[in-house]
Amino acid sequence: MPLLSVSKEVAVGTAMLGVAFATGLLAGKRYPSLGFGTPKSSKTILGKSSPLWQYILDHSLREHPILKKLRLLTTDHPWSKMMVSCDQAQLMANLVKLIKAKKVIEIGVFTGYNTLNMALVLPDNGRVIACDINEEYAKIGKPLWKEAGVEHKIDLRIKPAIQTLDELLAGGEAETFDFAFIDADKENCNEYYEKCLRLIKKGGIIAIDNVLWGGKVLKPRKDDLATQSIHHLNEKLLRDARVSISMIPMGDGVTLAFKL
Ligand SMILES: C[S@@+](CC[C@H](N)C(=O)[O-])C[C@H]1O[C@@H](n2cnc3c(N)ncnc32)[C@H](O)[C@@H]1O
Repeated sequence: MPLLSVSKEVAVGTAMLGVAFATGLLAGKRYPSLGFGTPKSSKTILGKSSPLWQYILDHSLREHPILKKLRLLTTDHPWSKMMVSCDQAQLMANLVKLIKAKKVIEIGVFTGYNTLNMALVLPDNGRVIACDINEEYAKIGKPLWKEAGVEHKIDLRIKPAIQTLDELLAGGEAETFDFAFIDADKENCNEYYEKCLRLIKKGGIIAIDNVLWGGKVLKPRKDDLATQSIHHLNEKLLRDARVSISMIPMGDGVTLAFKL
């Protein structure tokens, strides 16, 4: 018997499929148009209807009940495809636990699935600096952060993430963080990486999401700034002597950079 069965419907996987936060109009509400894709469509390496992916979830996912509740709640959201894949979130929680992280950064919170995921495994005095520009999304997850009893570990900062990272650096917090997850607008991914690298301690980890960008990195178009930006960072990381790396074909692709 699987530990947890995740229906194909809800096991949506990662997938921030776009980037350029031009604003779109949908059902009378304004949601970010992510550059490509439509609400509810999603991409994963194996495909959300892949029996193999379902097998992976059935045989590896150990999801906290409140985390599952937030995932199911987010599934109803028109932009549920932005939520990180649950298997990838579990990998990050395992890494956070393994390195005994106390201070972590999340760049791009959405409804807070991974924020909650990391807060659940941090010690009681641990902190997640959670960066987003959209408070409405986080409002969906906040009651569940509270229900899980980890609200006190989450410091939500609603402003452009670059500003939050600069404030942390200016506040003398360089080399004090253990883990960072970069999962926001792709045009800024290099800036996020460079600032996180300064904030992270040696031995710390930076996880960069969507590094395969639905396969677009294979042939980045000149006018597609998001794909260009991801591709340039991928090329730079390959030669970056400040880190060891692994690029993992999970979700929409995640690179783990281990600070040396
Ligand atoms: C892919 S979603 C994040 C998913 C989230 N990590 C999770 O666990 O489900 C990207 C988020 O980045 C946020 N975002 C976009 N541009 C941003 C910026 N400049 N600064 C901070 N957050 C930003 C969006 O509002 C959106 O909530």
